[in-house]
Amino acid sequence: MTATPPIEPSETAHTRSTLATLKGLLPFLRPYRRQFLFAGLALLIAAGATLSIPYAFRQMIDLGFSKIGDANAHGIDHVNLTFLGLFGLAVLLGFATAARFYMVSWLGERVTADIRNAVYGHVLQQSPEFFETTKTGEVLSRLSTDTTLIQSVVGTSISLALRNSLLLVGGLIMLFVTSPILASTIILMLALVVLPIVLFGRRVRKLSRDSQDRIADSSAVAGEILNAMPTVQAFTHELIETERYLSSVEAAFATAMRRIRARSLLTLIAILLIFGAIVFVLWLGAHAVVQGEMSGGKLGQFILYASIVAGSIGALSEVLGEAQRAAGATERLLELLSLQSSIVSPPTATAITSTMEKGATLDLEGLSFHYPSRPNHAALHQIDLHIAAGETVAIVGASGAGKTTLFQLICRFYDPQQGSIKLENIALAQLDLQSLREVIGIVPQDTVIFSANALENIRYGRSKASDEEVIHAAKLAAAHEFIERLPEGYHSFLGERGVRLSGGQKQRIAIARALLKNPRLMLLDEATSALDAESERLVQQALETAMQGRTTLIIAHRLATVKKADRIIVFEHGRIVETGTHASLIEQDGVYAHLARLQFQLHD
Ligand SMILES: Nc1ncnc2c1ncn2[C@@H]1O[C@H](COP(=O)(O)OP(=O)(O)OP(=O)(O)O)[C@@H](O)[C@H]1O
Ligand SMILES: [Mg+2]
Repeated sequence: MTATPPIEPSETAHTRSTLATLKGLLPFLRPYRRQFLFAGLALLIAAGATLSIPYAFRQMIDLGFSKIGDANAHGIDHVNLTFLGLFGLAVLLGFATAARFYMVSWLGERVTADIRNAVYGHVLQQSPEFFETTKTGEVLSRLSTDTTLIQSVVGTSISLALRNSLLLVGGLIMLFVTSPILASTIILMLALVVLPIVLFGRRVRKLSRDSQDRIADSSAVAGEILNAMPTVQAFTHELIETERYLSSVEAAFATAMRRIRARSLLTLIAILLIFGAIVFVLWLGAHAVVQGEMSGGKLGQFILYASIVAGSIGALSEVLGEAQRAAGATERLLELLSLQSSIVSPPTATAITSTMEKGATLDLEGLSFHYPSRPNHAALHQIDLHIAAGETVAIVGASGAGKTTLFQLICRFYDPQQGSIKLENIALAQLDLQSLREVIGIVPQDTVIFSANALENIRYGRSKASDEEVIHAAKLAAAHEFIERLPEGYHSFLGERGVRLSGGQKQRIAIARALLKNPRLMLLDEATSALDAESERLVQQALETAMQGRTTLIIAHRLATVKKADRIIVFEHGRIVETGTHASLIEQDGVYAHLARLQFQLHD
């Protein structure tokens, strides 16, 4: 099994046609059928009003102005009526257009919000494998830039397209009604225009997709760097990073320019051809009027209809470009939405029935695992391990031995390729994912602090916990004292990623968070590595009390931390090489004894 980057466009996606891609938006539009109907109605009225204007115009010229010389009352009345009618049309047009704008903009905003929520919710369901292969900046760009493109389509382009299609069809019909011969000439010429528009449209679409990708690249670059500012500055990489960003921004600009050039060319060709055709036909019409074959009003009417038709074709080609951009965006969002996480709850999950009063039992049998991105390197190899309820097991081993990997598998962030893990005798893959993770409390190797206050950060362990419970957990984790000393105590904001805390303080917050969850299985990954001896002793004591009634797995490099464990397991290159208590392992004089000698020498 090899990992493929999830958001890589597939070949078929590239060749799919624009309209087909936009169909993917339908599920998001469906809930708002009524609003669409309303918008459509307003649209119809507005288009009807627009199309009546040239007719009223002709009435005005032929029946009003031409007979004004007769100076009879009928002519004047007619002029009054015609102008009143014209104004009435304008009022109708105004109201209908405003209503359409309102409805359609509402739809655009609403649908975009829905898509954003759906995509974000879906991304949060993905397994770690997804986040190994996808840059967060890219996902963010999908959420912001791509959805904005869709908003422009739903919010304006659809209505523009509809309106202009209506005007185009209506205008064409009226052209034929006005003068069949002139109309057929103009149609013939307009038909020639469509081909270049379609051809160029394809190219624009591809370029716009590239353009979005480049923007995603540059936000990925910026996102990573902004998260690592102290390192960047410590290595005085500010200029280098600025240039790296600059070059990715420039790449985005260059791609955007290619798109813009193609679009400009498209517009140029469309307008030249369309207006060329119209001017030619009008020239024919002018001849007809001069020869008395056609009235002035009729030609006037024809000109207005022709300009409506031309305007609508121009607008349609514009909209087509927009729609093609959005089709690219839709394609990427749909790809993201169609990703299936390989780590999901089974359709019929087995529930854990035992209350696990003493803690959870854990059984690993013949467990082998390699990371999806490294298929030839076994991170864990044939692990057999049985952990009784309430047992405290320490895991030691060199860096890279596979200790953290074991925790990842116990949390079911990945599924093993071979062997099984059972919690309370139920295979993890048969358990409901959420109920599995509810049982587990983990203090990860890299503590994560959210940009919130201390209270909320600890409460992350159990969102329904009361303030008292949070403070109790903080006391257990030896965090109470330092939190109290923060400027605003538990309500102190900890900064983005906890920048306002020391490494050891962050760890204690993370321990408090895990304790608050009151898990049946506690996984501590170097949870006390950043603490001084005194704090470590305090946390150690707290953990010992907290270990009552739960199973605990502790990864630690410092052997002082693991000495008291019921059992010590030594990992080497993804295998268990030794098992025993501190005393028995020292006696064995193997890997562990060697590690111990090294550490205690250093401490002397
Ligand atoms: N997401 C990943 N993708 C691919 N390989 C990984 C990934 N995470 C870890 N590895 C590899 O798997 C092996 C075991 O890593 P692991 O994190 O389990 O080590 P560890 O024992 O926890 O080490 P340390 O004590 O340094 O934390 C290492 O060789 C590492 O390079
Ligand atoms: Mg580790």
